[in-house]
Amino acid sequence: MSEHANKVVIVTGGASGIGRQTVKEFVIQGAKVALADLNRAAGEEYATELRDAGHDVLFLYADVSKEADCENLIRTVVEHFGRLDVLVNNVGIEISTPIHEMPLNEWEKMQAVNVTSVFLNTKHALRVFLEQGGGTIVNVCSVSGLVAWPNIAAYNATKGGVLMLTKSIAIDYAKHNIRCNCVCPSIVDTPFTNASIGAENLEAIKKEKAKLNPIGRLGTPEDVANAILFLASDKASFITGSALTVDGGYTAI
Ligand SMILES: NC(=O)c1ccc[n+]([C@@H]2O[C@H](COP(=O)([O-])OP(=O)(O)OC[C@H]3O[C@@H](n4cnc5c(N)ncnc54)[C@H](O)[C@@H]3O)[C@@H](O)[C@H]2O)c1
Repeated sequence: MSEHANKVVIVTGGASGIGRQTVKEFVIQGAKVALADLNRAAGEEYATELRDAGHDVLFLYADVSKEADCENLIRTVVEHFGRLDVLVNNVGIEISTPIHEMPLNEWEKMQAVNVTSVFLNTKHALRVFLEQGGGTIVNVCSVSGLVAWPNIAAYNATKGGVLMLTKSIAIDYAKHNIRCNCVCPSIVDTPFTNASIGAENLEAIKKEKAKLNPIGRLGTPEDVANAILFLASDKASFITGSALTVDGGYTAI
């Protein structure tokens, strides 16, 4: 029996990149997975592909920056699968406007999508976990929650928020058999990274960025998904409030 067999898992942003791979790793281990995403076409297509391969997967449209969507997401998953065991708060966006030029609405959007979403999904999941007698949360943070990455101050600030929210949830709910951890990747090869670099000289720039990691390559979605599955598993039962770097040694320097 695999570690996650029959567990009910929500992965936000499950249609692309790290979230997409996380959904895959969970279903391979026999979990029942709800993937939530703003991208309805990609999410539905991926859920259908996984169902056709025999996995128990549900796609749910959600804009996780909106409370009604988060509440509906958690409620629908519990109605459909009967419980909730793991919440992976993975959604994140990056807007790299310099601070002195950043309009307030861009700052607010970053906060809403990257931090408020973690608060909202967690708030509604905790109510289920408290009733059930336990559960676990893994947040996808970033090395930029630990050390500042140049030219993305607003993003760094959101990831700092995710880190502190992770630790706070961990200590406040530990007595209720609820764990909360986060993973902190350095650059991972995903559509997010491609969009942030831009099309010109993409591969050459990625090669340069890979050199920032002592291991000498970019992270893969698998690297991060494996860490998420470990933190969500019973093998991590004494781990809560931790920020696991998945960064090829980037923050060890
Ligand atoms: N890629 C990297 O280099 C890297 C490094 C460190 C941390 N991270 C973090 O990892 C997480 C995933 O990043 P990724 O690279 O896989 O990104 P990605 O852009 O490939 O995937 C993100 C997914 O989230 C969805 N999404 C965006 N806004 C949403 C919203 N409001 N509601 C619901 N879904 C929404 C998108 O449609 C997309 O499917 C993010 O939190 C990001 O900050 C990424």
